[in-house]
Amino acid sequence: MTELRIGLIGCGGIASGHLAQYEKASGARVTAVCDILPERAKAYGERMGVPEDHWFTDYRELCACPDVDAVDICTPNNVHVPAANAALDHHKPFCVEKPVGVNAAEVEALADRADTLGIPSMVCFSYRFKPAARYAKSLVEQGLLGSLVQVYASYLKDSAFWPGRRLEWRFDGAIARYGVSGDLGVHILDLASFLCGDVTSVCARMNIAIKERQREDSDEIAPVTTDDACSFLATMKGGADAVFSVSRIALGNGNHITFDVYGTEGALRFDLDHDDRITVTRRNHEGRNSSVETVQIPESFRAGQQQTFINLLHGIRDPYLPTLRDGLRMQRVLDALMTSAETRAWVDVV
Ligand SMILES: NC(=O)c1ccc[n+]([C@@H]2O[C@H](COP(=O)([O-])OP(=O)(O)OC[C@H]3O[C@@H](n4cnc5c(N)ncnc54)[C@H](O)[C@@H]3O)[C@@H](O)[C@H]2O)c1
Repeated sequence: MTELRIGLIGCGGIASGHLAQYEKASGARVTAVCDILPERAKAYGERMGVPEDHWFTDYRELCACPDVDAVDICTPNNVHVPAANAALDHHKPFCVEKPVGVNAAEVEALADRADTLGIPSMVCFSYRFKPAARYAKSLVEQGLLGSLVQVYASYLKDSAFWPGRRLEWRFDGAIARYGVSGDLGVHILDLASFLCGDVTSVCARMNIAIKERQREDSDEIAPVTTDDACSFLATMKGGADAVFSVSRIALGNGNHITFDVYGTEGALRFDLDHDDRITVTRRNHEGRNSSVETVQIPESFRAGQQQTFINLLHGIRDPYLPTLRDGLRMQRVLDALMTSAETRAWVDVV
């Protein structure tokens, strides 16, 4: 495999995780880094052995750099689509963090442009790469569950209570647009669609529990404008009903995803604190007690997110690749959640 050259945009928390994956992956290396804060570009540039003249503060310069073949976008939400468009300006493939954008219209325009140009891309719906999710998908595809009737999913964190947190971009609707709905909810929504088909309508309640925080660059106290918690009901295309709950104010939860799918013939349960196992229930037609078994997931279901991106760049496409069209479907659900919470009504996902 020839070694392709990756340019990283946004040198923050998740980018560190991407770099750790590139350090282990084959077929690519990081050759340029970019952050609006030069000290962050420097830190990640040094970590990856990137020469100083390839530490950028403007993502357009990184995208134009002849030593970059593909771009990895790890900025706050409102920069994703502009940075992806800058990559497309130079006909460069990209992967982009979730949610793809800050509204469905900008994501649709991006997806259309990428399709027209024929440039490959991937959305970092990270939990699709978990063995439990992939194994669950294979069981659903084999028909083990029969017709899917119910989904219960939750994604709970307590990150809003981390000491000293100021009004970072996640708490600012002008940058993030969505709070936990877009930050955490989008992951379990993607998993639900991955396993059970599209979400067709939602009814949501959002809550901002910690109402104000100190600005990052001054003493001023300003309002938090993104949701700390979001619970919603949903209908799925295949006929299942779903119940979702996401939170960054659930004390005691570091990063806890639970997922149950119920069908007419069986059920699946996974808890991503233990992503190498899944509980499988098969209906017993002779009596009341169904068989319940915890299954260790075979190694073959393991996939690395950034290795999958590199493989895509080399023309090897993962069958479960999260695409921009998947990202667009999620964006439409996120927009519907916002409308539903504002209007206190069921909203169709269009
Ligand atoms: N897939 C996952 O599991 C997962 C997990 C965490 C975060 N994320 C996503 O990753 C993205 C980044 O989140 P994070 O937690 O790393 O945030 P972060 O604040 O830690 O990092 C963002 C970085 O982007 C930089 N930045 C801001 N504007 C920029 C610009 N115009 N050009 C270049 N750099 C710019 C910031 O200075 C910062 O260093 C978000 O979209 C978030 O939703 C995904």
